[in-house]
Amino acid sequence: MCAHDHLSRRKAVARAPQLRFDNGVAELAAPAPGQRSYRWLAAPLVAFALFALTAGLLANHNPRPKGYFRLFFSDPIHLKAGFATAVVVLACFQLFTAAWIFRKLPWRKPAWVNPVHRWSGRLAFACTLPVAYHCIFKLGFRDPSNRVLAHSLLGCGAYGAFAAKVTIVRLHRFPRPVLPLAGGLLFAVLIGAWYTSALWLYRHDTAAAAAPAKSSPIPAGANATAGAAVFKSAGCGSCHTMKAAGAGGQIGPNLDEVRPDFETARAMVERGGGGMPPFGGQLTRQQIRDVAAFVAKNAGFR
Ligand code: HEC
Repeated sequence: MCAHDHLSRRKAVARAPQLRFDNGVAELAAPAPGQRSYRWLAAPLVAFALFALTAGLLANHNPRPKGYFRLFFSDPIHLKAGFATAVVVLACFQLFTAAWIFRKLPWRKPAWVNPVHRWSGRLAFACTLPVAYHCIFKLGFRDPSNRVLAHSLLGCGAYGAFAAKVTIVRLHRFPRPVLPLAGGLLFAVLIGAWYTSALWLYRHDTAAAAAPAKSSPIPAGANATAGAAVFKSAGCGSCHTMKAAGAGGQIGPNLDEVRPDFETARAMVERGGGGMPPFGGQLTRQQIRDVAAFVAKNAGFR
């Protein structure tokens, strides 16, 4: 069936040679001789769906309390951001070497570009693994806000796009625009996943560091000493590291590092978000104010 398909396509191309130019959209309509028909796109599309769905299904669980690691980063969140940023840097390099391979750059292509492209791609994939381990197997698919939902979807999509791109490379002979389009899609999804997490985190960090003037002092009615007890009983320490509380949790940010002010902590404890459960229904208003005072006082606020 396929051979027949190619044959008739070849005839069509022969009849209308003026429609063939080298990198134009006209090629979208008819694959050149020796190339696969567009029906073969089903293979990478199925690969995309399988891998994206598998990632989503594996991630379909509540946050797990144990098994996090942080290497030399301040907490697992910064570990993920660090590796995700490395992936994005390598992805940019991938884009650059791909343009070289497709002879879109003004320089002659040396022989090392292809292997370097391949190996930087493998390295990028390896860098996604510590991120995927934490996101997929520890935190799971989360949707408390649009940012986190978008990040969860893009993260699953990244593995789908990766599988699709590798399928296209391995099957060879796809019509010319297919591989660059798949590579571009993978790149876009990776940037999206990074933008909704690592870049967000870095901005969040800088905003926290740069805005002491906007930060809120601890109100007189909030009692940090009582808050220490709330911190213990509410189980904050199972997710957060905070020396003053003797807590070494690894799921949420290290509270000695992010140093939230009173209002940030109060709002976060009350409403939750981004993997942090809300405590509004479980603690009284006063308890929430107390525990926020405890966290803010530890962060250096008075
Ligand atoms: C199930 C794990 C978990 C528990 C329990 C938990 N947190 Fe969190 N917390 C998180 C996560 C994850 C985040 C990061 C959320 C995000 O993406 O912004 C967070 C964020 C925070 C922040 C915001 C830090 C910042 O500046 O960005 C504060 C403050 C905080 N938690 C305090 C507490 C306190 C106090 C308690 C106990 C009442 C508590 N958390 C219980 C997981 C948890």
